[in-house]
Amino acid sequence: MRRLVRETHLEPSALVLPLFVCPGEGVRREISAMPGNYQLSIDQLVAECRQAEALGLGGVILFGIPESKDEMASGAYADDGIVQRAVRAVKREVAGLLVITDVCNCEYTSHGHCGKVVNGDVDNDATLEWLAAAAVSHARAGADIVAPSDMMDGRVAAIRRALDAAGFNKIPILSYAAKFASVFYGPFREAAESAPQFGDRRSYQMDPANAREAIREIELDLEEGADIIMVKPAMPYLDLIRQARDRFHVPIAAYQVSGEFSMIVAAARNGWLDRERAIIESLTGIRRAGADIILTYFAKDAARLLA
Ligand code: PBG
Repeated sequence: MRRLVRETHLEPSALVLPLFVCPGEGVRREISAMPGNYQLSIDQLVAECRQAEALGLGGVILFGIPESKDEMASGAYADDGIVQRAVRAVKREVAGLLVITDVCNCEYTSHGHCGKVVNGDVDNDATLEWLAAAAVSHARAGADIVAPSDMMDGRVAAIRRALDAAGFNKIPILSYAAKFASVFYGPFREAAESAPQFGDRRSYQMDPANAREAIREIELDLEEGADIIMVKPAMPYLDLIRQARDRFHVPIAAYQVSGEFSMIVAAARNGWLDRERAIIESLTGIRRAGADIILTYFAKDAARLLA
């Protein structure tokens, strides 16, 4: 009877698994702050993607750890960059799986910031060119959706223009529209080796105290041509997921970020929480708040629990 009257349903097809791809072969290096998540070389990534497809997940989102980093984030937009090569391999070997790429520079810059640093500060407009080039290189490699996470102003419009000019007018943009300067990204920065070497990201990511500004950020991204918008992190920002769901008639994504994942895993390891119930309850809450799509490191666990 509970099932009959249940309001919120969780399906594997709504879940997207984030994956980290690195150079080499046979590499499967566990990320210590994110147990059960790995830096994977392309061959291992393909194996992981096969599982994601078999479990019926909505897709995967790829993050790259390049061979080397520089001031210009060259690896982010190189045609033979790590993510570009990974996308080609996954689309060749696991053709039925939806592949989203994260478009950002922080994994590729030597200083770890999401954009070009000029005089000690991130130069918004100079960064747009890198982002547009990265998005086009991902599309050329076969990405199904590009997802800019940098939070530069005007990046959605710049990426849309560049994709259209390159003949990729059908590739949608999933915009990390309301992305907060959050402590909960901590474990990810170990995973992606992307912690800023000086300062922090508060000049481009949002103040956790601001909800109206988040709605404004979403509006701007939609005006610029975003097809799907995202709220990130998820659990501390459920009110914004709900507001976005009520106001905007586009698909809404939410990112249950690394810190949200690691808190549950750590508590479960200590015997303080039941891991399986915490996974399902946290994801159900995010869905109930209004997310159509959830990016989560629990995607495979959840799919197995729901089977
Ligand atoms: C890149 C990016 C970050 C995350 C996704 N894309 C880190 C950051 O902004 O520092 C975080 C994801 C997570 O914590 O799981 N800009």
